[in-house]
Amino acid sequence: MKLLSISKICLKVTSVTFFCFCAFIVEAQQKSIQQKVDSVLKLMTLDEKIGQLNQYSGDWDFTGPITADGDKQQQIMDGLVGSMLNVTGVEHTRMLQSLAMKSRLRIPLLFGQDVIHGFRTTFPIPLAQSASWNPELIEKAERVAGTEASAYGVHWTFSPMVDIARDPRWGRVMEGAGEDTYLGSLIAAARVKGFQGKGYGDTAAVMACVKHFAGYGAAIGGRDYNSVDMSLHNLWEFYLPPFKAAVDAGVGSVMNSFNDLNGIPATGNRYLMREVLKGKWNFKGIVVSDWGSVGEMVNHGYAANQRDAAKIAINAGCDMDMESRCYKNHLKDLLRTGEVKLSTIDAAVKTVLKTKFELGLFDDPFRFCKASRQDNQTHHPENRKVAFEMAEKSIVLLKNENQVLPFNKKMKKIAFIGPFVKSVRDHLGFWSMEWPDDTATIVTLWDGLKNALGKDVELKYAKGCNVNDQDSSGFAEALQIAADADLVLLSMGEARDMSGEAKSRSQLHLPGVQESLIHAMHQLGKPVVLLIHAGRPLIFDQPASQVEAILYAWWLGSEAGNALAAVLTGKYNPSGKLTMSFPRTEGQIPIYYNHLNTGRPASSATDVNYVSAYTDLLNTPRYPFGFGLSYTDFSYGDILLDKTSFHSGETIKASITITNTGDYDGEETVQLYLRDITASLARPVKELKDFKKIFLKKGESRTLVFNLNVEKLKFYNERLEYKAEPGAFELMIGPDSETLKKVNIQYN
Ligand code: GLC
Repeated sequence: MKLLSISKICLKVTSVTFFCFCAFIVEAQQKSIQQKVDSVLKLMTLDEKIGQLNQYSGDWDFTGPITADGDKQQQIMDGLVGSMLNVTGVEHTRMLQSLAMKSRLRIPLLFGQDVIHGFRTTFPIPLAQSASWNPELIEKAERVAGTEASAYGVHWTFSPMVDIARDPRWGRVMEGAGEDTYLGSLIAAARVKGFQGKGYGDTAAVMACVKHFAGYGAAIGGRDYNSVDMSLHNLWEFYLPPFKAAVDAGVGSVMNSFNDLNGIPATGNRYLMREVLKGKWNFKGIVVSDWGSVGEMVNHGYAANQRDAAKIAINAGCDMDMESRCYKNHLKDLLRTGEVKLSTIDAAVKTVLKTKFELGLFDDPFRFCKASRQDNQTHHPENRKVAFEMAEKSIVLLKNENQVLPFNKKMKKIAFIGPFVKSVRDHLGFWSMEWPDDTATIVTLWDGLKNALGKDVELKYAKGCNVNDQDSSGFAEALQIAADADLVLLSMGEARDMSGEAKSRSQLHLPGVQESLIHAMHQLGKPVVLLIHAGRPLIFDQPASQVEAILYAWWLGSEAGNALAAVLTGKYNPSGKLTMSFPRTEGQIPIYYNHLNTGRPASSATDVNYVSAYTDLLNTPRYPFGFGLSYTDFSYGDILLDKTSFHSGETIKASITITNTGDYDGEETVQLYLRDITASLARPVKELKDFKKIFLKKGESRTLVFNLNVEKLKFYNERLEYKAEPGAFELMIGPDSETLKKVNIQYN
């Protein structure tokens, strides 16, 4: 006994010592970086300090309005540029980095890039990826993207975009993870971990940048760059948590947003940047403006001129100025007059220098410029496998009448019709990288399905119509091949550049004459399967009633054709679930699942009797948040609770048995929602609080156990305290946000 206790004590002492030693090493490393930063800062002139806060776009690919001015390369050699964006490739980055090495202090450049859904290997757009409800797989996808981008000389990705979005008129919904805060926060953290891998500074990683801070997705009317007007409660409850999740995951930088928040532009918003981000959250990384957003505060009417804008932004906590040149042109004079303190400029410069030390760029400015690594990360077959899996799992089955999918053996002739059947670049979606050899690396729908069907099935093609014009001259040919087919497969939707930045639209129906073509196909009386390609929820209420099956196919990236073929042929049973509510008409927007109940809630989809409803439309979305079908069926047992009431510190276990009662093995995402029935603020009718993905063979059952504790009950009250309140709650479990089993629980 004595011997045992002595060895235990020794073990304890050793582990404590080891822990202290590790902490000392980390402390020493950080201290040495801090010391190095301070020593470089001491050597810098004011011009060189301001230069570090100045970011220009390269001429490779513009992602905003370009300002043509002076010789950027000379400015780099003069030490007046801290970072470049839109410059990729070992050759380009090495060339510009070599110029930086000619500057007096040889401070290396930081290269940033919008790596939004893949780099050389293109993944499905982020909104599609979120439909997988698979943070682990999303992290894996970003790991690939980070590895490829860093091999091409990129240090910094302006991603993840984590803006919660409830309005599909806003084109940038394609970049995010939809309308839910809980799922959006999990995905935000996953993306940061994927990009940063073992930590930025590892040459297979890039520094992530969570954006757009904050509230950008709530632009009034879904009109990009428009004002955002919301209570601090809603900001904290719904829009800030994904940013906090990214900060907690160690994100290296933050990008602020174009919008004003309650009248104060985010780029000059002291509350957001100093009080919340750098204060409450103790964020120590770079805060970069969005493209020109410092200068745009003049347009906002918040800054009198560019000089005023520079003062407001730097004092509010914006460290780096992307493309507006306000810092470059005015900080020196603002310092002279004392409107900006040297300590403020130094703090921003130290953050930039610290980041460059952490990336190892002072030790070796060319450590990300290795041609061999770039070659190895170009069209890497392992990366495509991840893209294929991500694409398969992003596809959402919205309808499948008479089990027309997957294709059955009797289907010997398929007419494959639509403007995207043989389209190549559309499958890249918005915010994809553009490579000259893309056409060779993207699997079209036609090639993917042709390869999958082989010789057993005759596949015939007709374009039928264009994406977005009134030309119906292609109908005749399309109807002719459809008349002779066993099944009609339509590929419709919006073009890749109809969603994305500055792509807000007031009309979300299928564009051009697509609906007419679908109607004409419907008239033939043959089974029609509709593939919809889009970067956002579109409106297709009427076409949906005219076809037997619908797959929402987003923009799936490099492996689009193979992934869709796998689903159509049944090789993969679709498992995606929507992460945005789909409206029936534009007039129903904004529509989202976690709304408040109001004093006059509709009692049904058709109730219009003095209730909160439209008299000319059903009260429900066309497809609800969390919705997605499978080729198989899953039956949900009743919810069983180990207790019906609990106190803080206790856990309630809610179990439910799911059975695969259909004819196919398949994956299901079982979702758990809570409703706080009565509280000091009116609370949403339901909120996603947990989910589990399970794979069940046909006939297989599994009992899932969800653990609920007080953390799941908390919300931001009127005083913005994050607390749970005692009372009754409704606990709901189901396959989507409307098909739910319910039980009541009590928190005391
Ligand atoms: C764009 C976008 C932002 C992007 C930046 C750099 O305007 O708003 O998301 O990272 O400019 O391309």
